[in-house]
Amino acid sequence: MSGRRTRAVRVERAQMRMPAGFDTRKLADPRVQKVLAQRISTNFGDGWEIEEANNDGTLTVRREVEISDVPSIDVKLASSVKLSDGAKKQSDFESEYPGYTMTAFDPYAHHATLTRLTDEEVRARGLVAEALQVKPWDVQVTSRADNGFDFQLRSYVPSKHDARIREVATETLGRPGWYHRVDMQNMVLSIIPGDLPTFPSAYPYPFGQSVKSVFDIPIGMALGGDGVPNRPLDLRLADSAGGLFQGLAGAGKSVSVNAVVYGVLERRHQLVILDVPHKAVDFEWCKPYVRENGWGCESKAAAVTAARLVYDEGVRRGKVLREMGVQKWQDLPEHVRAEMPLITIIADELTGLLAFDPIPKALPRDHPVRVEAAQAAAETELLKAVITKIPAEMRAAGIRLLLATQQAQSNTGIPPSVKLNLPNRVLLGINATKQARGHAFANPDSVPWVPEHIAADAKAGRGAGVAEFEGQTSTVFKAFYASTDDYLRHLEALGVPRAAHPEPTPAQIAKHVPRLDETEDDGPPPSALDAGGFGAPDGRDAPEPRLRGAAAAGHQLRVAEAEHARSQAAS
Ligand SMILES: Nc1ncnc2c1ncn2[C@@H]1O[C@H](COP(=O)(O)OP(=O)(O)O)[C@@H](O)[C@H]1O
Ligand SMILES: [Mg+2]
Repeated sequence: MSGRRTRAVRVERAQMRMPAGFDTRKLADPRVQKVLAQRISTNFGDGWEIEEANNDGTLTVRREVEISDVPSIDVKLASSVKLSDGAKKQSDFESEYPGYTMTAFDPYAHHATLTRLTDEEVRARGLVAEALQVKPWDVQVTSRADNGFDFQLRSYVPSKHDARIREVATETLGRPGWYHRVDMQNMVLSIIPGDLPTFPSAYPYPFGQSVKSVFDIPIGMALGGDGVPNRPLDLRLADSAGGLFQGLAGAGKSVSVNAVVYGVLERRHQLVILDVPHKAVDFEWCKPYVRENGWGCESKAAAVTAARLVYDEGVRRGKVLREMGVQKWQDLPEHVRAEMPLITIIADELTGLLAFDPIPKALPRDHPVRVEAAQAAAETELLKAVITKIPAEMRAAGIRLLLATQQAQSNTGIPPSVKLNLPNRVLLGINATKQARGHAFANPDSVPWVPEHIAADAKAGRGAGVAEFEGQTSTVFKAFYASTDDYLRHLEALGVPRAAHPEPTPAQIAKHVPRLDETEDDGPPPSALDAGGFGAPDGRDAPEPRLRGAAAAGHQLRVAEAEHARSQAAS
């Protein structure tokens, strides 16, 4: 490997004229060699040997003069040497002093310096000089103990040079995984060998760690690189209303959401789950630990109710904040916070939750199928309204919302204002499209991609994704993994309280979700909603079946509707 020689020599050369008509082929003849050797020694002295025969009838002879093995040699430059002679002088010096390289060239001071460099150092210096578009002798190179190189530079402009130096580090000089650092103070560039960062097939959930903050939820490990090891990544919820998790089926949404579920329960948040009935089985494991009546999974009406119960609690908390004269939950005295813990709502399969079939307007208004469809549309509107309002209004009350969905495209029904209020974004999956990233992230261009070598490695890539978290550098990451049994065992050991009634009661549902098909005798007279229907987005021109629910419910529905219409008009 090393180009360092054991002796330091200076090479001297001289020309010797041959007898006229000398046949250079005779040089191979030992007798001729003997005669020539004698002649050379008479003319030049000891230690010379023939280097080559030249066309002009001369022989080049050379000898090596031992010099002391100094790290560098100063040489004088003739006053005729110009700045533009640098390359020529370098090549002259380097053939005269094998193992030495010209490392300074100053024709104005009539001075050059030769330094003993290894072949690798010379090569590294050349590549860096080329990348920086400077002369090689203006870059001073030394080897590092870690097999990398340090370069003393005259100037370095990161915006101009980083990309090229990265290429030198990872391609021409080193290989992928090598990286560079610049000490701008001392103008030292280091190119350092490293391995490509990657993930193990799974990171076991780090149970038993001390809780730093009720707002910081451990989620996984961020990918390191450039000499930085992989490091724990928290979803930090102190200053935002929540987040949005996206990814195709199988990408790892449930695994990462489970980690969050455990994390918030460990931090004694009250948990609310909203899901479509056929997918709720994913969350069945944590049903015992939800907030009272916080299991909004058995029907859309249950989801609406569980969410609206939280909204009502938020309204109550708003009053408490005002009474205590504080801005937000964090400012409350500890005993008040203990009485009204953070609430985290997790809504999975949001796209499914917000979908509904068109209302079959060909059917009579009171046809049960039409009534059912209108009911579903109304409940969807209610859900959309409450999901829009909670992140917009309830952050100060200590309420957080995490949405999970296959794809948050504009056509999947997630109101843009909701996305806007949920700045923490996760996109799971190794092969995300540009389009998916565009929908997932606020600033897709500043979010890294899952590196190819991870995408190509089934184990490393499993569950990998990208996180764009507010107030943190966007990063590739992999969620912690634990089985739901493991999570349950630890929740039990922690003594996390269980709900007496996970599901919303029928009375709560009746209060929060008016029915369109109730009979006239059921309650008070119809509300003003009769006049305008639900304003469902299918453009119905006439009112749908008369609403017969409780006046209170009708009122709430109308308020939600109006709010929603306003928020839609605004967005
Ligand atoms: N972070 C992870 N660590 C290890 N394995 C994972 C991880 N994420 C996902 N997996 C594997 O991939 C499978 C599918 O993940 P899942 O979370 O159910 O996907 P999704 O909910 O997006 O459909 C999991 O059952 C698990 O085997
Ligand atoms: Mg899933």
